[in-house]
Amino acid sequence: MATANTVVWQDAEVTVTREIADRIRRITLRPDTPHRVRPGEHIEVVVDGTGVRGAVRSYSVVDAAEDGSELSLSVFHTPHSRGGSTFMHSLEVGDRVRVTAPLQDFPLRVGAPSYILVAGGIGITAVRGMASLLKRLGADYEVHYSARSPEAMAYREEMVAEHGDRLHLHLDSEGTQLDVPGLVTSARPETELYMCGPIRLMDAIRRAWASSDLDPTNLRFETFGNSGWFEPEPFSVEIPRLGVTAEIGENESVLEALDRVGVPMMSSCRRGECGLCQVSVLGTEGSIDHRDVFFSDKQKAASSRMCCCVSRVASGDRDNHTDRARLTIDVP
Ligand code: FES
Repeated sequence: MATANTVVWQDAEVTVTREIADRIRRITLRPDTPHRVRPGEHIEVVVDGTGVRGAVRSYSVVDAAEDGSELSLSVFHTPHSRGGSTFMHSLEVGDRVRVTAPLQDFPLRVGAPSYILVAGGIGITAVRGMASLLKRLGADYEVHYSARSPEAMAYREEMVAEHGDRLHLHLDSEGTQLDVPGLVTSARPETELYMCGPIRLMDAIRRAWASSDLDPTNLRFETFGNSGWFEPEPFSVEIPRLGVTAEIGENESVLEALDRVGVPMMSSCRRGECGLCQVSVLGTEGSIDHRDVFFSDKQKAASSRMCCCVSRVASGDRDNHTDRARLTIDVP
């Protein structure tokens, strides 16, 4: 899915920050060098200056000035976070942050006969700009927006006002969850579906799409590797061949930790898409939480390799529980 993107780092100033929904802040940045922003684009933000590169998080650009002189992100404060989302929520007007120019890994193909857009929770940030463009183009589209409650829905009123009957809201609190099989059945052979949201929602749609006759290339998704099957928790990683052990914080990736302790690793997307950061799994105490979209379901079930930029280990479910998760790996 990754496209050729040139990563250009620069500084940006925070011009606005405000809460727009439960645990969601809208943060507007003024980059030193403006670039026009297209729907589906994101930027990377350095959220911690430690390590060789510092910890980096990806955030969709939810909207931007025409000339890119200002752009806005919306960040969900992850429960128990001490990492990226806590840093982003602590920003104040006038702060300076290190960011990339906009990067495109989720392009909207203009000209399809019909579209379905699906956003789960904070995934609305990747989908909102696409919906606006499709409306401006007069395209045949519908938007499905899921969240746990109305209070957790960023941009709810704006989306209702802009898209009217084309918008379908699905709320856990009202028992109106998205009917995934029904949605996929409603897709026409030429419909393109774009989605961004929690892994469970995207996985359900991927499975339903894969078991239909629909063209697999018409299903497109954005993942920031920040949601998994288990809550993130600290765990230990050991590389016996190198005699290295690292403790992974709950808001740190294995890749970041290996970087921190001086183990050289290849990586590119850092979002679980390219597979460049894969490591061999020699043993686990706990359950591997595969958060990438690079490996197939079969490869994930085998768990002999994992993408260490996003995938983690959790102490597991009741049948496979350990007090503290441990992972033994080898690196290329
Ligand atoms: S760096 Fe691309 S999958 Fe990890």
